[in-house]
Amino acid sequence: MSDPRLESPISVGGCSLRNRLYRAPLLECAGNGPDAVDALIADLEPAAASGAGLIHQGATIVRGEGGCAAPGMTRVADPAFVSELGRLTDAVHARGGAIAIQLEHGGLRSMEVWHAGYRESNPGLEQLAVSRPPGALRALDRVGMLELNPRVMDTGEVRELAADFGRAAANAVDAGYDMIHLAGANMGIIQQFLSPFYNRRDDEFGIDPQTGSGIRFLECVHDEIRDRAGDVALITKVPSESAAPAVFRPRLSDDDAVRTAARLAAIGYDGLVPVRCSVFWDMSIVRGAFPAAAWRAESLRPGYVEAFGGPGRAAAVAAGNWVQSRYYDREPGWNAPLARRVRERVDVPVFLEGGLRTRGELDRYLGDAADLVGMGRPFYAEPRLPARLLDGDRGTEAVCEDCNNCAVAQAAGASGACRTPAVLRRAGELREEGAYDRTG
Ligand SMILES: Cc1cc2nc3c(=O)[nH]c(=O)nc-3n(C[C@H](O)[C@H](O)[C@H](O)COP(=O)(O)O)c2cc1C
Repeated sequence: MSDPRLESPISVGGCSLRNRLYRAPLLECAGNGPDAVDALIADLEPAAASGAGLIHQGATIVRGEGGCAAPGMTRVADPAFVSELGRLTDAVHARGGAIAIQLEHGGLRSMEVWHAGYRESNPGLEQLAVSRPPGALRALDRVGMLELNPRVMDTGEVRELAADFGRAAANAVDAGYDMIHLAGANMGIIQQFLSPFYNRRDDEFGIDPQTGSGIRFLECVHDEIRDRAGDVALITKVPSESAAPAVFRPRLSDDDAVRTAARLAAIGYDGLVPVRCSVFWDMSIVRGAFPAAAWRAESLRPGYVEAFGGPGRAAAVAAGNWVQSRYYDREPGWNAPLARRVRERVDVPVFLEGGLRTRGELDRYLGDAADLVGMGRPFYAEPRLPARLLDGDRGTEAVCEDCNNCAVAQAAGASGACRTPAVLRRAGELREEGAYDRTG
């Protein structure tokens, strides 16, 4: 399993991949409208056509209402809509790639909690919570930055939510997806179950003393997916909350994440993506620069004002974002130490992403910290990036500058795209030089 070459094939839960390079999940903001499938094909097919072994579609929502963490997320509760995604899976397969769908529910990270305009136009939506929200979120509610009106799920409702993950997975398998990827981090509801910061339940879905995490929900989701979608390859992100500022406790440590990963492998998960993040949805998952240009862009300003409930609050969020950027600076391979520890404990493939930018870094971590390696943000500027990385020398480097203008713009409802002219110019030059011409 540990052949370290990027070009060598690997199997994840019976899903054969032509190489170990993957596109990490990134929100495409394609929604569910009449153009959604074409938009997803336009975003994802180039990664397959230029050689990526595996393409992770960005997070999709398992319910028909509520639970969207950001504007424009695609829902996968309706079997009729999901069957149309067969055109996307066919397009990726025709290029020799494999495709994973990522399943999510936002819980307390959903737009009905943080997005003022969305809350106003959807007043009836429930805010699903694992437990009473932590004090830090209640404080943000008191100062008007959030509007909390949570409903804590009872045990039966938690099981029903797990069943929705199973139903969505079954729809996806019918549509030809090769792999199910659970959005286990980024403050989605799975992380909220795992995390002692959020999870204070006293039923079976509470914190398990042996792993230190609320792992029972992922166990239940696993069983639902196996019952409804069979033995499809199943992977999940596994969070350590070690990147959170020290005052936020209790939280998942690296040790908790390693124990949780070991248990998930024993339960039957086929692959694991360890990530060091925070207890909040913040820059810990996209370390790099303060996205000044995206905050300043005139075209995006109305979207920020609508999302955050006024210009003053939008400015306060931007200021918080600036503070975070001092704390979560660019850090190549920031998940590698955690991934290496997980890899020592499990016998399923470990995926590594987060700040990897050069072919040399991919080579260094393969067979050491990971069995597969991926990039996320660089794909916005270079949808055909694999063509340069595969067959590239160790110095081959993505043009992405970790400026994060792609990330924050999505709060304003903008689609997933690189917005930095210098970076786009460099990608254009490479295109003219034929750097992306590789096929398959
Ligand atoms: C705009 C944006 C959207 C993202 N959407 C998702 C997502 O839907 N699911 C997920 O698990 N991670 C998501 N991520 C995190 C990426 O998968 C990846 O872990 C992160 O960007 C670090 O990798 P990178 O440094 O190569 O970009 C997103 C990141 C960005 C910037």
